[in-house]
Amino acid sequence: MQVCVRSYASIANLGPGFDVLALALSNPYDDVLVRLLPSGPDRVRFIGEYGRYLPSNFTETTIYPVVEEFRKLTGQSFYVDVVVKKGIKPASGLGSSGADAVAVAYALNKLLNTGLTETELIRVAALGEVVAAGSPHMDNVAASLLGGLVIINPVTGDVVRIEVPGNYWFVIVTVGSKASTGEMRRVIPRSVDLDSLRNNMSYVSMLVYSLITGDVGTLRKAIMGDAIIEPIRSKFYPHYNAVKEALLKAGAVAAALSGAGPSLFGVFTEEPREELLRKLLHEYGIRDYVLIISKPRNAGVHEIPCDALG
Ligand code: HSE
Repeated sequence: MQVCVRSYASIANLGPGFDVLALALSNPYDDVLVRLLPSGPDRVRFIGEYGRYLPSNFTETTIYPVVEEFRKLTGQSFYVDVVVKKGIKPASGLGSSGADAVAVAYALNKLLNTGLTETELIRVAALGEVVAAGSPHMDNVAASLLGGLVIINPVTGDVVRIEVPGNYWFVIVTVGSKASTGEMRRVIPRSVDLDSLRNNMSYVSMLVYSLITGDVGTLRKAIMGDAIIEPIRSKFYPHYNAVKEALLKAGAVAAALSGAGPSLFGVFTEEPREELLRKLLHEYGIRDYVLIISKPRNAGVHEIPCDALG
């Protein structure tokens, strides 16, 4: 019994929406095979472009807590064989761990006929994020599961998904990698002053409105208006200003950190010119980087044929 699924990368926060907003991307993505085994131990293999960066010890992966939760929920003592073809660069701020946790939760829900709702699947998949980040955050997993732009309440788990209009491109520039999401969560404040809160609440609302209506002036202010998280995290990334400037000069409506970084994203309303982007990045002294041009993806994780994954 096996199921194969494709799970997509996502951009969390989008500037002011820390842990609340995330957007699914049409690329990159991970393809994941999940097979039920009658006897142990659990097995996991990471293959593909970025497979070598991930642990082969099952209990160290973000998949492990998800499988454990399904064992608890079903009371069954099954084992799994998981193959993950990694197209999403780990630790790059594109929801790599969340995408895999979603893939496994979605596949196990099918294989075991558990009938979990979307909200329950988000909760279970977010358990994997504790491994990656030290605490569960649900924004990336919600976007990978549902697609589109998701707004999630990290306190209650309430979630809504919004269709993103087709006339946007997202350019992602990844330079280096971060120590860990956990570390980048420890550097941010535990409490915020009221003005910063008011600033971010208004910009999150304006961001959602302007993304849908195409009001690019407001979208720019909103995405680049985070007063709480990005001003702190950006200091940890020496490439931050250069990449941001290059994206804006190449025509991005707005640019900001993707998730906890190190990637930055730029939003474009016309097809981005890759040559120009590379030229500008070079001019700004950025040499070693990964450039991805993507469209938003309005549908979430889905089943695929298992041919390519064995
Ligand atoms: N919202 C999370 C954070 C996303 O910013 O820490 C991490 O990918």
